[in-house]
Amino acid sequence: MSKQFPRIPLVGYCDPLSVRPGETISFKVSCNGEGPYSARLLRSICADPNPSGPGIVEQAVEASLAGDYPARPQAFNPGSYGIVERGPAMSGDVTLAALIWPTLPGDGEQAIVSAGGLELYLDGEGTLAGRAGETVVSTGRQVSAREWCEARLSYDSSSGVLTVRQQPRSIWHGPAEASAAVPGFAYEKGSPLLIAAALRDGAADRHFDGKIEAPAVYAATSPDPARLAARWDFARATSTWRIEDTGPGGHHGRLVNHPARAMTGAAWDGAEMNWRRKPEHYGAIHFHRDDIYDFGWETDFSWTVPENFPSGVYVVRIRQGEQEDAVPFYVCPPKGQRTADLCVLASTFTHVIYGNHSRPDFKPEWMDAFARWNAYPWNPAQYEELGCSTYNFHRDGSGICHCSHLRPLLNTRPGYITMGYGEGSGLRHFQADSHLTWWLHEKGIPYDIVTDRELHEDGFAAIQGYKAVTTGSHPEYHTPETLDALLTYRNSGGKFLYLGGNGFYWRVAIHPEEKGIVEIRRAEGGIRAWAAEPGEYYNAFDGGYGGLWRRNGRPPQHLAGVGFTSQGQFEGTYYRRTAESHAPDLAWIFEGVKDEIIGDFGFSGGGAAGYELDRADVRLGSPEAVRVLARSEEHPDHFVLVPEELLTHLTTWAQQPIDELIRADMVYFDVPGGGAVFSVGSITFCGSLPWNGGDNDISRVVENMLRCFLK
Ligand SMILES: [Fe+2]
Repeated sequence: MSKQFPRIPLVGYCDPLSVRPGETISFKVSCNGEGPYSARLLRSICADPNPSGPGIVEQAVEASLAGDYPARPQAFNPGSYGIVERGPAMSGDVTLAALIWPTLPGDGEQAIVSAGGLELYLDGEGTLAGRAGETVVSTGRQVSAREWCEARLSYDSSSGVLTVRQQPRSIWHGPAEASAAVPGFAYEKGSPLLIAAALRDGAADRHFDGKIEAPAVYAATSPDPARLAARWDFARATSTWRIEDTGPGGHHGRLVNHPARAMTGAAWDGAEMNWRRKPEHYGAIHFHRDDIYDFGWETDFSWTVPENFPSGVYVVRIRQGEQEDAVPFYVCPPKGQRTADLCVLASTFTHVIYGNHSRPDFKPEWMDAFARWNAYPWNPAQYEELGCSTYNFHRDGSGICHCSHLRPLLNTRPGYITMGYGEGSGLRHFQADSHLTWWLHEKGIPYDIVTDRELHEDGFAAIQGYKAVTTGSHPEYHTPETLDALLTYRNSGGKFLYLGGNGFYWRVAIHPEEKGIVEIRRAEGGIRAWAAEPGEYYNAFDGGYGGLWRRNGRPPQHLAGVGFTSQGQFEGTYYRRTAESHAPDLAWIFEGVKDEIIGDFGFSGGGAAGYELDRADVRLGSPEAVRVLARSEEHPDHFVLVPEELLTHLTTWAQQPIDELIRADMVYFDVPGGGAVFSVGSITFCGSLPWNGGDNDISRVVENMLRCFLK
């Protein structure tokens, strides 16, 4: 893999994703064309390209970043590896050794350890091989995928013989060994040592797919502990990107492109599931040739947000000829200040987790239909080399568990369409949330934006004092810090609106050193895009038990009154008001609403209740005071109960019939201390807000709620 250039002619990204007045954001652009490209700033009001709705709505904003910039292509370098800039200086006998658990043996040459002109690697047939200078020796026997194997390469300086040896840990395969004469080989001193890759023309290349444990160098013709020169213990500094040498020379190194840490090693036997409790079982790192975290592009231009600059969603449009890209970001209010009574939470952790989602159901012909709406023309399913989302697999079949915004995320662009089927616009995430933004502008309701990052870093202080806080369509991914902040807000008198579905579902962790990278372990339950390996459920970044918040004792109902219950295709139906919704003390919510059925329309799936549905359940933490205002009905047969709700083909966790659990509950409840919660239980809900120019019953209910909360 190694060095590549984007196939998209003009594309960029920014860092960070959110800024406050006085802070600086930088933009990094790759442009294949000659001459300059232009940049300008706009406020993003609506990112839905559907001509039946508001369309793309953006307001030009004067900013010092506007101007022309010289075009140049910028490369990116996928593939994770470890590098020790100055490995041990060897002379005489040398042995390179490691434990390997390859995942793609036979799929290209893959270096395991390379240093000083010696290289231990898998050849193109998946056979363990060694190289000293130009001489190659192979055991002639393939290693097995997903099986631990001791691998070693030794150079005997007295005889000039190079020997490669594999010793599988399994009973099913025996050892294999081969030797070749390499007279006069001299180990190059002072060169870098690479783990899971080798240098070619100064760049890491021939990346290894799979786990490596305990790579080591010995000044001997065997792994003689008395002659240890270096040995990297991957169970140390697990939450960092450092690799520590436990040998005499302290040849510490670093990891590039964030391979997965806290991985089970050869000794793991199920005795312990938590890497912090038995690090000797967690000495492996899983490397992937397609790991990509930070493109590391140079900054083309940066911009410091002026004082008093309005909080909102913004986009920098870059253009050269017919080529255009749009890089979204958020401006938050000054730290510790509020410039509106309403706070809109931008679910940036979720956006990044889904960043460059290559959908398994994507069809190239979708792009023709999207083009008719002049929608964003690039789809991550067609540009997987940019790095996919944590909803995708690595090439070796393991789940992608890291993601970041430090690369172009095509599906975060205004005008990007996610779903190429069904009624409405087919939007999710950034674009779907713009239905709410457009609606707030249409109704003249001022708002501040706070993103997951501020919520994670500043906690409750990030939202303290707002009269109301609302989510968008899908606030799915949370850290302990973001959940605590929202719960504290709610419990200290805050009014909280959850205008989406499948929220507060997965527990994620933020890298302690690199704030842009998010980790997800898709552990033992839930609707999962992939399944973490047994023993690998604990996050490397924060040591927390990864997976569902429900399995961490905090089901979504605990905060929002509703939680994930069912998923189907991107189709929506409607809600029917409950008898309880007619209670006199709730009349204010439905003022102006005449029908019993609400939301049988919308730009997301054609109805306000669809795609991913949440329901109230007191056993899962909905307060007894929860008032169910409306329930969805008539979901098509493709809607299924989420796995954590289904126990057998007959029995559900809730001990109710499956059909009755496939529904969205719209709920309201008061919280002691003056707080209140309004949750709608559906991911497609916000798509109904702009329907009929914002004149509809879904809009009326939300407006009634907000006007009351903001009073
Ligand atoms: Fe989701």
